[in-house]
Amino acid sequence: MRIGTENPMNIVILGCGGFIGSHLLDRLLSTTDHKIVGWDPESSKIRKHLENPNFTLHQRYVDDPETQQDLREAVAEGDVVINLAAICNPSEYNTNPISVIKSNLFDVYPIVELCVEYKRWLISFSTSECYGRTLSSYVGDTTYENPDLYELKEDETPLIMGPIVNQRWTYACAKQMVERLVYAHHKEDGLPFTVVRPLNFFGPRMDYIPQRDGDGVPRVLACFMGALLNGDPMKLVDGGKARRTIVSIYEAVDAICRMLDNPEKANGHAFNIGNRNNEVTMAELADMMRKTYAKITGDPSYEDYPIIEVSSEEFYGEGYEDCDRRMPDISKAKELLGWEPKIALEDVLLDTMTYFHNEYAGAMKPAQVAE
Ligand code: UGA
Repeated sequence: MRIGTENPMNIVILGCGGFIGSHLLDRLLSTTDHKIVGWDPESSKIRKHLENPNFTLHQRYVDDPETQQDLREAVAEGDVVINLAAICNPSEYNTNPISVIKSNLFDVYPIVELCVEYKRWLISFSTSECYGRTLSSYVGDTTYENPDLYELKEDETPLIMGPIVNQRWTYACAKQMVERLVYAHHKEDGLPFTVVRPLNFFGPRMDYIPQRDGDGVPRVLACFMGALLNGDPMKLVDGGKARRTIVSIYEAVDAICRMLDNPEKANGHAFNIGNRNNEVTMAELADMMRKTYAKITGDPSYEDYPIIEVSSEEFYGEGYEDCDRRMPDISKAKELLGWEPKIALEDVLLDTMTYFHNEYAGAMKPAQVAE
């Protein structure tokens, strides 16, 4: 059944061409009649939608002066504005901090102001990094005995970040400021809002594969996948002890769709979107990925693929500090949206890595190109 056939919405999406945006477009354009106006300088992940009559792409950055006028019109005519535009790659937080602060805070400010002016519902993509490190890590509880000291609850857990010399926190701090700005406008001016705090969405099209279609250091999925594809060792930062919970992009998109279908329930809330059952250390993730790749390729030698340890300073440079653990309380999303993720990490990895294998493994490796 197509949703929104009788009352299609006008949806504005900033950053519609990225990983999350491309999956959101896939879902919305195939199952609803909503009209979508999007902004993104990149279109390679959303090419198949460019001719869709329900989708208009402005292929520009949010901070492009030309964007301002079009955006005002779109917000005025829109029912909901979804902001996905961000620099959300940890390798940039300490190496490119000014751009990180600008893109995640100052470029977002005019979008928030427009939503306030037109009283439009803003779905603001934030980050689980707003929580900073766990309280457990500050009191030296490395075994995580007390869930009150590590579980992340949207409306209760304090948001604690490291010192300014640890520039890792530029991103989290900028995102937290936007959350506070949005919330303040909600209280003072009645701005309808929803804040989404993603916890490691994994799926096809995430980031880029180094030396293939991008340079630098992407997030961990693409780093490990790139290593397997390029024949480099997988690298565990600081021993790979950090823990993350991983959720399928398809289920994450389902959560967003439930918000769009239930504005009255989503309005006025921040939501953790993550899968509590899929928690792994990065060392465990590397091992699972090499075993999954052995299955995908039918080559058992991948089961013992080389994994090496590197220091965070060597890998990310000075000023990196890691989030130790992110265990989300998701009872709000369950109760208000009826959302509960079910896809096991093994299946997320199999699906995602099969995509990357099919996309890249047949193509020439960088060394072959150079020869
Ligand atoms: C990033 C963003 O900062 C978050 O805002 C976002 O919510 C999150 O990704 C996400 O994907 O949802 P983070 O999980 O720290 O946060 O990003 P990754 O770069 O994927 O790193 C995860 C862990 O893997 C870190 O402990 C990192 O040090 C480690 N890592 C990364 C490795 O051990 N090896 C690598 O090759 C790359």
